[in-house]
Amino acid sequence: MEKKLSSVAKTLTSSPIQQLSFLAERCSNAINLAEGFPDFPAPSHVKNAAVSAIHSDFNQYRHVQGLCDCVATQMREAQGLEFDPSTDIAICCGQTEAFAASIFAIIDQGDEVILFDPSFETYETCIRLAGGVPVYVSLDPPHWKLDADKLNKAFTGRTKALVLNSPHNPTGKVFSKNELEIIAGACTTWDILAVTDEVYEHVTFEKEKHISLASIPGMQKRTIITSSLSKTFSVTGWRIGWAIASAGIASAIRNIHVKITDSAPAPFQEAALTALRSPPEFFKTLRKDYESKRDFVVELLAKVGFPVHFKPMGSFFVFAELPSSCTLTDVELVEEMIRKAGVVAVPGCGFFHGSSLSSSELCYRNRYIRFAFCKSEDTLRVAAERISGLVDEDGKLKLF
Ligand SMILES: Cc1ncc(COP(=O)(O)O)c(C=O)c1O
Repeated sequence: MEKKLSSVAKTLTSSPIQQLSFLAERCSNAINLAEGFPDFPAPSHVKNAAVSAIHSDFNQYRHVQGLCDCVATQMREAQGLEFDPSTDIAICCGQTEAFAASIFAIIDQGDEVILFDPSFETYETCIRLAGGVPVYVSLDPPHWKLDADKLNKAFTGRTKALVLNSPHNPTGKVFSKNELEIIAGACTTWDILAVTDEVYEHVTFEKEKHISLASIPGMQKRTIITSSLSKTFSVTGWRIGWAIASAGIASAIRNIHVKITDSAPAPFQEAALTALRSPPEFFKTLRKDYESKRDFVVELLAKVGFPVHFKPMGSFFVFAELPSSCTLTDVELVEEMIRKAGVVAVPGCGFFHGSSLSSSELCYRNRYIRFAFCKSEDTLRVAAERISGLVDEDGKLKLF
């Protein structure tokens, strides 16, 4: 009966994260630095609001217009962008659905969509489901810089859209204003749309500030912004997100969302009102806490011999290069770490795409591991003890 599957479904396989999670499950007590969600409690004020919404019987299909108002206010305050909350915002089930509905709203069979490589895994699937063709532009390691020439060469008469994720999973890169201007210039020249994924908008470090591509002059009308509550409020399971776009596009996204899921979870939409109205202190503490987790993990990895050439400037991840003396691939090293230390990370290969890569690009695809640091101090401390236990007297990892 598998023959009856659609041709796209036949190409979908479980991701490296899922495959290694199976191995980690078999290794009891494994510490999971693979998955990009917190293992610590969500903020009490946000949880209380959800409990109260359930008790108030917000338990049926629901569209909470006040949530669109909050999202519009946030965009004005953070990015200086004006959106009409009654027409320009579609509430969806997480960024994941907001992104999928956005792609279904704008992509036709054969349309090309530019993405940066490495990239978060779900974009490509959505583009293929819509009949689109992903076209990858590789970012240059170790700082994952954008090369304007490479970007410009990727455009053709069939290019319909570009996807931008900043702060970036898996590298922790935050695209600079200059890079955003290059992207905006290309989008304008080729008259294409941009779909952004800004789920880590509040998780930036040191003096780094997230800038939405939509805030670059000329871009608001051609950008669909997607984001969610998931990462900022440690509620990835609540499935509340949104797409923001000009009225006609937002309306198409809303129509698709209604046909696929009807509405996002009602009590969590209500609780989102409280979450998005959190005081500035909440967002400051969030950044400070994540910055110290980042520093802890970067220091740990440097101590055990991973050359961290690029300190993440945002998101929850360190994309660490394998030690040059390591003869294992990323997948083999992760398997060894699970078996010998009971610590799970994600091999970088799953974030790299594109079939027409140069030989230098091919050679670094298996040389990165992603560590998620959105974990409690206890989890990070135990992970540090276990990873440090793998180091020999010369301070080198004993895994290879
Ligand atoms: C870059 C990026 N976008 C989107 C998501 C998923 O967001 P949501 O929970 O809002 O669907 C993740 C989760 O790991 C992510 O890393």
